[in-house]
Amino acid sequence: MSFDTVEHNRSRQQFDGVSSVWLFGYGSLIYKVDFPFLEQRPATIEGWARRFWQGSHDHRGTPEAPGRVVTLIEQPGALCKGVAYRVSPQVFQHLDVREKNGYLRFSTPMVFDDGNCAEGLVYIATEDNAAFLGPASSLDIARQIARSTGPSGPNSEYLLKLAEALRALGDHDPHVFELESHLL
Ligand code: BEZ
Repeated sequence: MSFDTVEHNRSRQQFDGVSSVWLFGYGSLIYKVDFPFLEQRPATIEGWARRFWQGSHDHRGTPEAPGRVVTLIEQPGALCKGVAYRVSPQVFQHLDVREKNGYLRFSTPMVFDDGNCAEGLVYIATEDNAAFLGPASSLDIARQIARSTGPSGPNSEYLLKLAEALRALGDHDPHVFELESHLL
């Protein structure tokens, strides 16, 4: 699969006659909300773990020296906390471009903090995408993040903002917090 997923995402879901869609955010969508939304609610999805395993050649790194950003990895029983936004389908015209480096939209069940459930869309960069970097030791990941920077700013800022946003949500993500403490 090529890096640029914009065209691929446009053909994945049909929004004809749909006025709003839930979108689950677990990474930069939690703290960088540069899109309009109708409603915002903390939510959790099951069976997925957040990992800094996706390369960033366009935002937090460069093609020559990619940074690392989060994707979701299938892990039975894992819980991933994030924020669900109810958005107009038009929002995907913007987000598909913002998150074009290997991320595809998938459908997922979500549980809101009050116990209610809904179906939402979530961007996931799967292992077969060209920008996928995969696992490494937490020290090596933190070192790569510490030295990387790209058009959207330092990779360290991405990690620190995400850790801060997760703390504000009351989440404890050991992977993210371990990287944060290495970085600090
Ligand atoms: C998110 O915050 O949900 C997100 C993470 C990576 C790419 C796109 C969206």
